[in-house]
Amino acid sequence: MPDEAATLALGAKLSGLLKPGWVVYLRGDLGAGKTTLVRGLVRALGYAGRVKSPTYTLVESYELSRFVLQHYDLYRMIDPREWLDAGFRDDCNAGTLCIVEWPEKAKGLLPKPDLEIFLEMAGEGRTARIEALSAQGRKEVQTWQGFDS
Ligand SMILES: Nc1ncnc2c1ncn2[C@@H]1O[C@H](COP(=O)(O)OP(=O)(O)OP(=O)(O)O)[C@@H](O)[C@H]1O
Ligand SMILES: [Mg+2]
Repeated sequence: MPDEAATLALGAKLSGLLKPGWVVYLRGDLGAGKTTLVRGLVRALGYAGRVKSPTYTLVESYELSRFVLQHYDLYRMIDPREWLDAGFRDDCNAGTLCIVEWPEKAKGLLPKPDLEIFLEMAGEGRTARIEALSAQGRKEVQTWQGFDS
């Protein structure tokens, strides 16, 4: 992905893959493009407002026409128990699509992911790789045509 527009475009393509009830971990260093990917996805799902990084708030919620998308960034979480105390575990349920930057900050308290997406710096651009971890995730990724970058 040579530029920001390409990351936004991959995010948009993911709208054809990700389902409510899924948990997606976004892996990658600071500045790898995780939030940019979510921005492309949220816009493609019809959200017209601003898509901000949840760096300080830990979560941004989007009421989409078909489901609620929860976008977490746990980078600033100091104690993994904050994940439970804030009620995030209950918010991440069968009706929501739950996407998490810096999932390792919650140690083992997060639900297991259906997918992990790895973003890496590559020169001026980025590379992306998707790994399916649940049975449903594997099934959907196999039939999904969108990931060609
Ligand atoms: N494919 C790309 N090529 C070059 N720059 C990109 C690409 N994708 C995103 N960027 C740029 O990288 C910068 C960081 O992006 P972003 O905030 O999405 O990273 P992040 O992984 O969410 O970081 P953090 O861990 O700090 O939340 C932004 O300026 C964005 O425009
Ligand atoms: Mg981010």
